[in-house]
Amino acid sequence: APAPALRTALLEWFDHARRDLPWRQGPEGGRDPYRVWVAEILLQQTQVSRGRLYYERFLDTFPTVQALAAAPQDAVLKAWEGCGYYARARNLHRAAGIVAQAGFPTTYDGWLALPGVGPYTAAAVSSLAYGAAHAVSDGNVRRVLARVQGERQPTDAWVQAQADALLDPARPAAWNEAVMDLGATVCTPKAPDCPRCPLREWCAAYASGEPTAYPAPKRR
Ligand code: ADE
Repeated sequence: APAPALRTALLEWFDHARRDLPWRQGPEGGRDPYRVWVAEILLQQTQVSRGRLYYERFLDTFPTVQALAAAPQDAVLKAWEGCGYYARARNLHRAAGIVAQAGFPTTYDGWLALPGVGPYTAAAVSSLAYGAAHAVSDGNVRRVLARVQGERQPTDAWVQAQADALLDPARPAAWNEAVMDLGATVCTPKAPDCPRCPLREWCAAYASGEPTAYPAPKRR
């Protein structure tokens, strides 16, 4: 697909259709790293609709990384109740201790070195808070890119390579959020709203007449 035209189309759509979410305060590519980080860890295990409540509750309890670092582990686990996977909360707490001492990392590699931060979170935080050109790759991104490119069996490596190649280097933060929003609101798993999709003209799955066949259901 011709990247520049596709990028413009998706970013134009995002500029009017973007979701207003509590962790999206602040300038594009310059958000508060603590808020972005907490949101991305939470959203790995919770849908956005439920995640926003947990997010507000967690931030009310621990409004800064210093507050989180200074809290006893019990209090952190208590605030995480309902969010599942307590290992995530323990890692977040441990990493907060490091950040409270050393400051926030500002690069992808710096984030990756923190406990509980993998490639997804490092890409999300370094792009959304620091404007770094790193593409996120999650379930929504996988589905959107598999459909656009007509790939029925996307591997993780394929998805990351596609995401890296398509990322708009001028607006990496907006690009990442745009792909997430498209996957969550238009390019949904079972009922994609192709007539309202800004990427329709480049989309191989749409052209095939059977967009939901991409990607093929995972065999188990
Ligand atoms: N899911 C995971 N991260 C997200 C984000 N930053 N915005 C919306 N949905 C998300």
